[in-house]
Amino acid sequence: MIYDIETMLGVRSGLIGILATAAALAQTVGPFTAEQASTGESLYQVHCATCHLAHLGGRNEAPQLAGGNFMKTWTRRTTRDLFVYMQATMPPSNRGGLGEDAYVNLTAFILEANGAVAGTQPGWRISA
Ligand code: HEC
Repeated sequence: MIYDIETMLGVRSGLIGILATAAALAQTVGPFTAEQASTGESLYQVHCATCHLAHLGGRNEAPQLAGGNFMKTWTRRTTRDLFVYMQATMPPSNRGGLGEDAYVNLTAFILEANGAVAGTQPGWRISA
């Protein structure tokens, strides 16, 4: 399956930007499905949890990926920024090596872990 990343992640306002307050957070329906978030979680546990920990709390130099500090860092950035950052830099020993779909799913998982609610639409067009 090929996802149209531009459609989902090109949203200029940015999901995380919209989620600036904790109150808004729980209400927001994210541009992803529960299936994408759960696939992302499986990937996360295999490729990311060694450093960022199973519950995204972070450890040493690897920052937390869910919670107040993460939100503070990313609140002014877009969902696309998060996707691009992860694809370019994570995991450090295999940057971008998981493939585009994997980073989309990881993005969905991290959004969900920060309180966004999965919707019924993938949020981006499946073009093939
Ligand atoms: C070997 C340890 C390690 C692994 C594995 C790893 N990371 Fe990281 N990650 C880091 C470190 C260290 C940083 C801090 C920035 C830096 O030094 O590059 C970071 C930063 C991040 C950030 C930015 C956090 C912020 O607050 O700005 C995100 C998002 C992230 N990692 C996601 C992931 C994802 C998703 C995976 C799995 C695909 C992953 N990381 C795997 C060590 C790791």
